[in-house]
Amino acid sequence: MAALTGRRPLIAGNWKMNLDHLQSIAFVQKLAWTLRDAAFDRAGVEVAVFPPFTDLRSVQTLVSSDDLPIAFGGQDLSAHDSGAYTGEVSGAFLAALGCRYVLIGHSERRQYHGETDALIAEKVAAAHRHGVVPIICVGETAEDLEQHGPSHVPAAQLRVALEGAAAGSEVVVAYEPVWAIGSGTAATSAQAQQVCAALREVIAEVLGADAAATTRILYGGSVKAANIAGFMAEADVDGALVGGASLQLDEFASIARFPSHVGTV
Ligand code: 13P
Repeated sequence: MAALTGRRPLIAGNWKMNLDHLQSIAFVQKLAWTLRDAAFDRAGVEVAVFPPFTDLRSVQTLVSSDDLPIAFGGQDLSAHDSGAYTGEVSGAFLAALGCRYVLIGHSERRQYHGETDALIAEKVAAAHRHGVVPIICVGETAEDLEQHGPSHVPAAQLRVALEGAAAGSEVVVAYEPVWAIGSGTAATSAQAQQVCAALREVIAEVLGADAAATTRILYGGSVKAANIAGFMAEADVDGALVGGASLQLDEFASIARFPSHVGTV
């Protein structure tokens, strides 16, 4: 269990292409109220949301003016810092907006935008250049799983992505099996644990034992309030990257409050 390891659990909501900036204000405000009313343990669990780029300024203004216990970040960033890259968003801009995190290499970016492991490593380096913590997403398809077994593809993806990491800079890793994303069928907590343990080994090999001991590894793919406690009971699962359920206020707040409820796997 993450609490025993000293790694602060991270519950992250990836909104994908949902909620415009006005909707984001209403959602974050209500999320903060819901967490406050439920006596959410701010020190014990970190909550972060990943809205579309066009929402980030609105979310920042709300979070900073009311000191809300909610971090935020971008869903992607450019490998470049500035220049003639139409449509791209620099890590410098994310940092200027107070983004603590940025998602990198989500399977939807890999699948629909042709992102390669090499590009993802460049994006990790870009995040670190600007002091933004990359959340490196890895995961296998159902075919990968059948051909190579559970850890082979995610471990290989992570090994390359970590080549971009700056020495001593924080990373977060998210294991998201592609077959579990949006399917309603999550991995079992034992499956998640097996791969997260293998990913921690990769971190140890590439970044060293200290980094492996402190780096948070999240599970993502059909996480909901009913299964979060099972994942969080595993030794190498330090949080969740939540898609669909992060858009449902009560469901997401309940996931963030996982220490206070007994979940079922
Ligand atoms: P779901 O929680 O909707 O399966 O999405 C997971 C995900 O892709 C989060 O990044």
